[in-house]
Amino acid sequence: MAKQAKASSDDLTAEALHVAEERSLAYLRNLSHRKVYPSDSAVAALAQFHEPFPEQPSHPANVIRRLDEFGSPATVASVGGRYFGFVIGGTLPAALAASRLANTWDQNAVFRVMSPVAAELEEVVLRWVCDILGIPESCEGGLVTCATAANFTSLAAARHELLARNGWDVAADGMFGAPAIEVVVGEEVHASVLKALNLAGFGQKRVTQVPTDSQGRVRANKLPKLKKNSLVCIQAGNVNTGSFDPAGEICAWAHERDAWVHVDGAFGLWAAASPKYRHLVSGFELADSWATDAHKWPNVNYDCGLVLVRNAAALRAAMSISAAYLQPGSQREPANQTPDASRRARAIELWAALKSLGRQGLVELVERTCAYARRFAEGLREAGYDILNDVVINQVLVSFGSAEITREVMRRVQEDGTCWCGGTVWQGKTAMRISVSSWATTEEDVELSLAAICRIARQVRT
Ligand SMILES: Cc1ncc(COP(=O)(O)O)c(C=O)c1O
Repeated sequence: MAKQAKASSDDLTAEALHVAEERSLAYLRNLSHRKVYPSDSAVAALAQFHEPFPEQPSHPANVIRRLDEFGSPATVASVGGRYFGFVIGGTLPAALAASRLANTWDQNAVFRVMSPVAAELEEVVLRWVCDILGIPESCEGGLVTCATAANFTSLAAARHELLARNGWDVAADGMFGAPAIEVVVGEEVHASVLKALNLAGFGQKRVTQVPTDSQGRVRANKLPKLKKNSLVCIQAGNVNTGSFDPAGEICAWAHERDAWVHVDGAFGLWAAASPKYRHLVSGFELADSWATDAHKWPNVNYDCGLVLVRNAAALRAAMSISAAYLQPGSQREPANQTPDASRRARAIELWAALKSLGRQGLVELVERTCAYARRFAEGLREAGYDILNDVVINQVLVSFGSAEITREVMRRVQEDGTCWCGGTVWQGKTAMRISVSSWATTEEDVELSLAAICRIARQVRT
């Protein structure tokens, strides 16, 4: 009887997986024929999902069919080649296929005893990432959901260490009554660092903001006098301009006063992979902690954030967990490096992505996307529009005239659906952002998108 039940549940699984596979491939094939943003009717059809909790079970394959029927049309085609919003990478073939296998394995990556393969691959990818980013391989780290979580994890390690140097055990005594820590950030700090500072109990009012230049880089000649054991947050890759803070100068200044320097390098740090762009990240290797994302430029599927910390003991002290039943082994335990306990095994897809790219593939990915960003800037400039940033990596800011005109061009570009670009306000000027972050973007995608943007901008301005 049990044998029969097992056989039929295997059949159900096989059928559902088969449907999912077929529908996934059809989805990918259709990407270049559909609008990047879903139609209003596709979004409206999501109402189909709103039903009372079903009393009866459904056949798994039919559940997948329904998910595809109403879910797929309402997705944003960000895995295609013409999505340029936010900083969103696609999914490399090896990462997508590995995620299929990894989901089948369904490993909990929290402790080695729960998944030797997840624990081992995590160590492998952390060393590879240190190598790629030019960070000392002795750093400790972990895989988290996103750069925001990686910023938080780094700042929690910094907090632990800086307070310990002041004779304060934050794990035991909390933040109430703790010695004050001075926090310094640039004026163009990413919102996620401010959120992480809030979460770590530093408070935004205490933060000193250093003036930045026209590209959003901290002005090294405006660095304030620093108290001993402060926390300094710098940026590798501004979300708008792609610019880099002068890390070498800042680290030298900060370390003279024993400050902890944290780098938010959500996407920009990956410029280190390319000999052509490596100079931009020079000096960032001197910092004390780094936050980045593999789901951005390296094109690993969501979610895949990374935290790296020079002082391994500080990270462990801030993050470790113990309980009688958890039985940590004698080797490195993923649980002791990040805020999560149970978690998906992100290292599997990251390993697959990096293994499939190799150094050469990663260099090509970085350099190709940067070249496409320059092509966008050149084409838009030739058409008479203002490029607001120095296009140093893969980010372009374009203004089509007044704020109103730029917003209207953006609205129509999004409605047209050839490509998708978001907006921003850069130092008081409304702009459209073009972020070329996907491995899937081709020269043809760039030319098609550029032509659509220019056509729409001409229509709006006449
Ligand atoms: C510089 C920078 N920091 C942090 C983040 C936040 O990344 P996430 O959404 O993965 O937390 C971003 C997102 O674009 C970013 O560009």
